[in-house]
Amino acid sequence: GVQDSSPPQALLAGPVAITRRLHASHKGTFGDVCIVGGAPGMTGAALLAARSALHGGAGRVFVCPLGAPELTLDPQCPELMFRSFDDLDWSAMTLVAGCGGGQAIAESLPLILGHAKQLVLDADALNHIAHSPVLQQQLAQRPAGHTVITPHPLEAARLLATTAAVVQADRLGAAQSLAERFQCVVVLKGSGTVIAAPGDIPRINPTGNAKLATAGTGDVLAGLVGAHLAAGRPAMQAACEAVYRHGQAADQWQGTVLSASQLCHRT
Ligand code: APR
Ligand code: MG
Repeated sequence: GVQDSSPPQALLAGPVAITRRLHASHKGTFGDVCIVGGAPGMTGAALLAARSALHGGAGRVFVCPLGAPELTLDPQCPELMFRSFDDLDWSAMTLVAGCGGGQAIAESLPLILGHAKQLVLDADALNHIAHSPVLQQQLAQRPAGHTVITPHPLEAARLLATTAAVVQADRLGAAQSLAERFQCVVVLKGSGTVIAAPGDIPRINPTGNAKLATAGTGDVLAGLVGAHLAAGRPAMQAACEAVYRHGQAADQWQGTVLSASQLCHRT
């Protein structure tokens, strides 16, 4: 037969053991995550990301809910700590920005892009960046290997100034274009999530199913990527592992429907 010697177009993302913890660990070993998002009426998005980061193994998780400064406790998850974004030393943490961010996240983006060490950008953070050439340049100039963006197809389309249909027609190409253009790891969500990085072969995630098609599961994923980054995983690995685990949790769910708050306890 004919031998196909062309390089692979994509690789499958696989599971990695993330549950092993050295005995001499302490909470500092697993890092701090800060969630900034939750504009008025969307506090839940920030809480889902925060709970998910905690259950995903982060050492400590802080929440800065932009639209609910009075919020000081999540009774379902009392481990979470609530702070005002202006009062927290977030530059020493892994930042997850944009979940339910609304308009409120816009004014913080120049600071975040300039000073966050490890960074996950989701949802409205990406929508604001799509509308601002200045923010786009700031994103592209961040130090290599510390940034993950998690667009769904429409958010990806806005960043590429095209339509969701064009993105969906070539998901590998769209993810790779975003990675090269913004010099970061890209998680292009949806059935068959693609993970791409500059100069690397894109990965296709084999886990997950349509039970994930419900509001808030994207926020759960963003928090989980944050937890893996905070644990010190390189950005591409953090993204692949989090996406794999997120999908696997949905695959293991016995019920016919799954809510995002149920999901974030099982990753
Ligand atoms: N198969 C596999 N995975 C799926 C499927 C499917 N059929 N459908 C959805 N998913 C996964 C995606 O891969 C992603 O991880 O579920 C998650 C959905 O994330 P989002 O599209 O961001 O949806 P959601 O969390 O509900 O976000 C809602 O946030 O991004 C904004 O504008 C958006 O207002 C919306 C809000
Ligand atoms: Mg989303």
